Amino acid sequence: LSHLLFIHQGVHYPVTMCTPETFQALDAFEARSDDVVLASYPKCGSNWILHILRELIFADSKKKYDFPEFPVLECGDPGKYQRMKQFPSPRILATHLHYDKLPESILKNKAKILVIFRNPKDTAVSFFHFHNDVPDIPSYGSWDEFFRQFMGGQVSWGSYFDFAINWNQHLHDDNVKFILYEDLKENLAAGIKQIAEFFGFSLTEEQIQTISAQSTFQAMQAKSQETHGAVGPFLFRKGEVGDWKNVFSETQSQEMDDKFKECLADTPLGAKLKY
Ligand code: PPS
Repeated sequence: LSHLLFIHQGVHYPVTMCTPETFQALDAFEARSDDVVLASYPKCGSNWILHILRELIFADSKKKYDFPEFPVLECGDPGKYQRMKQFPSPRILATHLHYDKLPESILKNKAKILVIFRNPKDTAVSFFHFHNDVPDIPSYGSWDEFFRQFMGGQVSWGSYFDFAINWNQHLHDDNVKFILYEDLKENLAAGIKQIAEFFGFSLTEEQIQTISAQSTFQAMQAKSQETHGAVGPFLFRKGEVGDWKNVFSETQSQEMDDKFKECLADTPLGAKLKY
């Protein structure tokens, strides 16, 4: 699949979603201090959190969240950033970029950044299925082949571990908050409350409960075609913690545990991530 990826500043990106021209235009992107930034490695639950953020903004402002662009900041045509200047605040900027690859204006403006992490084993399995289930994107010959590429960081948006190491240095910055997919699965309402507090959205307990009921995997999967079109059922595939056990061999599991220890074991993030 190497011809379907290109390398920009040392990281692989899919040619179907990103272009060097867009990356160039992104350098001059003008962030606002009230932009709502959501950072994640692919398949860690960004569409889940995007939905929650839109609902929170709607509940807080009574205005329907309107953002007629693909939500991932680095995807699309280079003219996107010019058009985004017209959009009302707060804008949600989703991104899969490393912290040090974010446009400078986001870092300077100190916009609030929410980072969602998911354990690397379930993330890899979700990523593999996405490639192999969605008709319009290239498939890998086998799970073993994908696993090799994932471990080497030669997949779209690069290495999970590089992403985690890079963000790990900023998780305790004043304008950054991180949450775990696994914690959200365990207690969705508590997670939504924390997200609302972090961004300063003011909601009643009843509103939190309503958003929580609309944001379960089952509720989102049932509406996935309506909200995300043909790709919906593949984006909302299984929504579980521990699906990796159905796919990983024992050797692969050990290899990932070793890599995890080498990269993250002595970090606060490493201590919190759950398998
Ligand atoms: S993408 O393609 O990178 O934007 O994918 P992303 O949205 O980040 O992640 C997709 C996985 O998130 C799961 N998901 C959920 N899990 C629990 N609850 C809810 N509401 C939810 N919504 C999405 C989705 O099912 C994908 O994981 P897998 O394991 O493949 O099912």
